[in-house]
Amino acid sequence: MQTFMQKITDRSAHVSVIGLGYVGLPLAIGFAQAGYQVTGIDTDPQKVAGISVLAEVDSVSICVPTPLGKTKDPDISYIVSVTEAIRERLHPGQLIVLESTTYPGTTDEVLLPRLASTGLQVGHDFCLAFSPERIDPGNTVFRLANTPKILGGVTPQCTQAAMYLYQQIIATVVPVSSSRAAEMVKLLENTFRAVNIGLVNEVALMCARLGLDVWEVIDAAATKPFGFMPFYPGPGLGGHCIPLDPHYLAWKLKTLDYRARFIELADDINTNMPHWVVTRVADVLNDVQKSIKGSKILVLGVAYKADTNDLRESPALDVLRLLQAKGSEVFFHDPFITEVDISGVYSTELSDRMLNWADCVVITTNHSTYNYDSIVAQARLIVDTRNATRHVKEGREKIYKL
Ligand SMILES: NC(=O)c1ccc[n+]([C@@H]2O[C@H](COP(=O)([O-])OP(=O)(O)OC[C@H]3O[C@@H](n4cnc5c(N)ncnc54)[C@H](O)[C@@H]3O)[C@@H](O)[C@H]2O)c1
Repeated sequence: MQTFMQKITDRSAHVSVIGLGYVGLPLAIGFAQAGYQVTGIDTDPQKVAGISVLAEVDSVSICVPTPLGKTKDPDISYIVSVTEAIRERLHPGQLIVLESTTYPGTTDEVLLPRLASTGLQVGHDFCLAFSPERIDPGNTVFRLANTPKILGGVTPQCTQAAMYLYQQIIATVVPVSSSRAAEMVKLLENTFRAVNIGLVNEVALMCARLGLDVWEVIDAAATKPFGFMPFYPGPGLGGHCIPLDPHYLAWKLKTLDYRARFIELADDINTNMPHWVVTRVADVLNDVQKSIKGSKILVLGVAYKADTNDLRESPALDVLRLLQAKGSEVFFHDPFITEVDISGVYSTELSDRMLNWADCVVITTNHSTYNYDSIVAQARLIVDTRNATRHVKEGREKIYKL
């Protein structure tokens, strides 16, 4: 792998990235900006060049999807098919780095045997490592270059080669002892979020029963300068990572006769939050002698995260479906999204007329572009699942928090 290091140093290395999505595209751009020749490979013909270039490239970073199947089991078929394509063209001096989130053991149980079947020796003829992506969509402070990156090679030589490449575009690369450890780091990070969000969602349910304002309780607890980290409740988990990744870990543990109880419990609480939101809406309407059936509901914000247009796994979609199933007439507004894939649910303009038309306005995403003063002024009742109206002074008697 000496020649590989030399090529990285003198910028003659030909780098490639497979899967040009949220993760792969910024990575490819990062390498290009650092002065490397980069080829992006994708099955979407709009995005790229074909796979034959793998025979020429010095490095391959794999950033393909890792979804869940219908039964919430890992679907690593994208990784497997890409590995087969790489195997056909694997050559001495090549570095392969898997970046897709996956369960511990994927790199050395799924990729390694296939690549080693070529007769080439890992750590000697070619290198193989895992390095999880930490992209935070919409984050303008922490991007690829200034977010520390974890890296674990299948052998120490693999770690060394992969670190050398990634250090050219990322300020801090943190090595761990193995590819499995690197895979587990990513799953710890995401499970940590899923479990803590599950905990705070349950605290919201407890506070509702105790007649307490969960937001006040969290804000007060967050004044403790040590030993507490605030998480906030909401209508459920969204995005591509947090709702899905812990299931990769739980699945792997199941094969080892171990039940990942925290993951199961957090999933149970988080996936039930949209039901809780709808119960809240029904109760609020009930207080004014209205039934949820036949009520007019305006849902504000359907992206899973404020100030993004990302609909993936958004809990707002479940809220829309559940409201519709209860017989409500539902419209939504989102400054970044005009369509959702739910028949009979359409977007609308955000006007005083629409705010006033609705029997209840439900805030599911706290986009910062909304004028919450004017929303509260015009709406008749508001269920605020994000405490987005916290600074509104007038009309607070119309606001019902989660
Ligand atoms: N999006 C995030 O915020 C994020 C953050 C951290 C980790 N991840 C992980 O990174 C991985 C990729 O996620 P993403 O969000 O970039 O997904 P994505 O769906 O945005 O992009 C994946 C790309 O891979 C392409 N692709 C699929 N099969 C292919 C094949 N056989 N050959 C070539 N290209 C192929 C698709 O066309 C698509 O362009 C996943 O494992 C995900 O869990 C994502």
